[in-house]
Amino acid sequence: MKAKRRAVTASSRVAEQKYPTSPKRPSGTGRGNSTGATIRPSSGRADPPMPVRAGAVDLSVQLGRGLVLPNPILVASGTFGYGIEYGEVVDVDRLGGICCKGTTLKARVGNPTPRVTETPAGMLNSIGLQNPGVDAVIARYAETWATWIVPVLVNVAGESVRDYVEVARRLDGVPGVAGIELNISCPNVGAGGLQFAIDAGAAAEVTAAVRRATDLPLLVKLSPNVADIRPIARAIADAGADALTAINTLSGIAIAPGRGRPLLGNIYGGLSGPAVKPVALRVVYEAAQSVTIPVIAIGGVMELADVLDFLAVGAVAVQVGTAIFADPTLPVRLVDELAAECGRRGLTSYRPLIGTALPKKPAQPSSKGVEYRP
Ligand SMILES: Cc1cc2nc3c(=O)[nH]c(=O)nc-3n(C[C@H](O)[C@H](O)[C@H](O)COP(=O)(O)O)c2cc1C
Repeated sequence: MKAKRRAVTASSRVAEQKYPTSPKRPSGTGRGNSTGATIRPSSGRADPPMPVRAGAVDLSVQLGRGLVLPNPILVASGTFGYGIEYGEVVDVDRLGGICCKGTTLKARVGNPTPRVTETPAGMLNSIGLQNPGVDAVIARYAETWATWIVPVLVNVAGESVRDYVEVARRLDGVPGVAGIELNISCPNVGAGGLQFAIDAGAAAEVTAAVRRATDLPLLVKLSPNVADIRPIARAIADAGADALTAINTLSGIAIAPGRGRPLLGNIYGGLSGPAVKPVALRVVYEAAQSVTIPVIAIGGVMELADVLDFLAVGAVAVQVGTAIFADPTLPVRLVDELAAECGRRGLTSYRPLIGTALPKKPAQPSSKGVEYRP
């Protein structure tokens, strides 16, 4: 790990408040990213890669408010701890960004066990946002984060708008905190347990309140557990989010041996892994057509082909989650493979790969039933 800090200047924060042109074709002014030392063939392709000169492929991603990711491969919240735990096995500074474990105002012990179980092509988890609380997170980790090049985004969770705002206030201006990812898939206690993420009004309210509380770049994470993502995505963008991330886990249950009860201590868990990728592709496809802020894809990324699929439906970057449990070195390898793929195609930037599968005119949403006719 290197002792360098990512600089976000006041002027760049103002200049890049919104995405410069369109999330489908980011213009990008960041420095070229050097990745080309080791070039491997990407999965599923036989032809040898073209040599890529170090620094020849620009992988940088602008997310607004001066936040420029060195490359579009991030690690997803809850699957990479606070980054520090992986310092021995991964060169974290080669990542595009780290979304740390969900952080709340007060410490949380999490849900009763069992909390995880494997499923076909994925896993169910019900960790229950176990974390030491925002003050302890800042005290334990921010100083180290401030020495890293990789931007660290703190994933923030809460049970009321006031919770979210207070956590954001405490993170504001802390060296080492590059931005906030709002996890709004939490029950809103004030609204009788209704999730912020499934209601456009509630999602906008919490986004706007956090926007007023901090100048940090603000990413808001979409839940797939809704009928129509488009009005929710638009409401969040209109409320001042700098970018969307999608998707969080899909709600599910597993059954205990003997079939006398559900398996997880919390009954419900969140499904993740390759099983959710088609759902994530659909949500990103619809969100990217609904907003002009950047969309970052999450859900079942296992190999370069998954990254390319998500870019094709309009994502400017991807997060790797569940796959990290099997191979923590995967995200850094994907950075190399993406650069090699660009070299193979004769590209000096990955941006032409974004949005190639989007329709010329906005397509009918899946909520109209157009995608599935039995
Ligand atoms: C064990 C585990 C813990 C997670 N914790 C969080 C969390 O604290 N906050 C959050 O926004 N998402 C959390 N997630 C969701 C992931 O960040 C990601 O959105 C989801 O797993 C889909 O990506 P994947 O299929 O690549 O894992 C968690 C996922 C897993 C598997």
